[in-house]
Amino acid sequence: MLHILNHPLGAHLLARLRDRTTPPAAFRALSYQVSLLLAVEATRGLATRDQVVETPLETITARVLARPLVIVPILRAGLGMVQPFTDLFPDISVGHVGLERDHATALPRSYYQKLPPLAGAHVLVVDPMLATGGSAVQALDVLRAAGATELSLVCIVSSPEGVRAVEAAHPAVPIFTAALDRELNEKKYILPGLGDFGDRLYGT
Ligand code: PRP
Ligand code: URA
Repeated sequence: MLHILNHPLGAHLLARLRDRTTPPAAFRALSYQVSLLLAVEATRGLATRDQVVETPLETITARVLARPLVIVPILRAGLGMVQPFTDLFPDISVGHVGLERDHATALPRSYYQKLPPLAGAHVLVVDPMLATGGSAVQALDVLRAAGATELSLVCIVSSPEGVRAVEAAHPAVPIFTAALDRELNEKKYILPGLGDFGDRLYGT
């Protein structure tokens, strides 16, 4: 259930995101652009239903999205991935899950949660970095407990450890990522990675 973005533009944008000299303003624009490509990939399998449409010339049966969509960014870095989804899907609802990794243990601590109704919706969880997988697994646990039945996870850079953790805890959840990197370092940062996404996005 791992889908790796295979697009020359995706590779180009990612190279610039990884570059340590890319400043926050450019980093935010690149995050938008690569997330836009991921948004298209991650919604390729959405269910559709028939709807009768009258064109100026004929009546046809067209296809429209069958279910409500919800996007849930994991705060704070996930916020950098939201706008392409709201631009493409203006009717999407946005929930928020606030999780922060403890610097010493790398374990996520929950500090905020606000969710729209999830029953019957397709829920897209977005977080640019899938490192140990602890944050993603905790967010998916929260969303399942809140009634989500159809979930996808969308990340920009993933580690093999993070993918394994999500697959073990939530085997039915597809993961869409722009890159699968090599490994984690001793501080649980992704190598080669791009550093701390939230810090680079917000200049902290
Ligand atoms: C980062 C990132 C993920 C998490 C990934 O957030 O955005 O949420 O780490 O690590 P994991 O897979 O090992 O859980 P961080 O906790 O640094 O918070 P921030 O988004 O506020 O910067
Ligand atoms: N969070 C980040 O922002 N970067 C990493 O490499 C790991 C977790």
